Amino acid sequence: MADAPDITRRTIALVGLMGVGKSSVGRRLATALKMPFVDADAEIEAAAGRSVSDIFAEMGEVEFRAGEHRVIKRIVEGLPTVLATGGGAFIHDGTRDLLKAHTVTVWLQAELDVLAERATRRDTRPLLRGKDPKAVLSRLAEVRYPIYALADVHVMTGEGAHREAVRAVMGAVQDYYRRAAA
Ligand code: S3P
Repeated sequence: MADAPDITRRTIALVGLMGVGKSSVGRRLATALKMPFVDADAEIEAAAGRSVSDIFAEMGEVEFRAGEHRVIKRIVEGLPTVLATGGGAFIHDGTRDLLKAHTVTVWLQAELDVLAERATRRDTRPLLRGKDPKAVLSRLAEVRYPIYALADVHVMTGEGAHREAVRAVMGAVQDYYRRAAA
């Protein structure tokens, strides 16, 4: 069998809805690939000196998206990393263009029940606060899934351990490179 393609040559950007495990899977994937891990929301918080919730509350979503764009631009123009993006990043036209131009984009998907359970473990998500999480996520899924589907790679994850998702992502990205080289 031919050698596995080197999938560390380009940033691997994880996209998908809140709670799907972009950060947990991303962190483990980075360790497995010996690549740096970057969490876009954490970088936005560091740049703004406040939490994502506070940015939403004090400046609004439009301003958050502009900051998110600036931060992701800086990250993807740097050395290759595993990048966990916030759930809305790939939906923003300009940020999606950046991600498509500079990274291999991976849409992580899971059943809505799994997302709702995971996304509400911590009360840090402004779009879910005080609302029925499953209803919000299902509305977001309707609008966003056709856009996430523009990602280079699609990986469906289950309730299982994140390391299974890591293996699935590695295999799917290798396949993507094999297809690209064929
Ligand atoms: C958002 C997802 C969040 C965060 C912000 C907005 C969204 O990131 O960027 O609350 O629009 O889906 P996670 O997907 O990491 O929770």
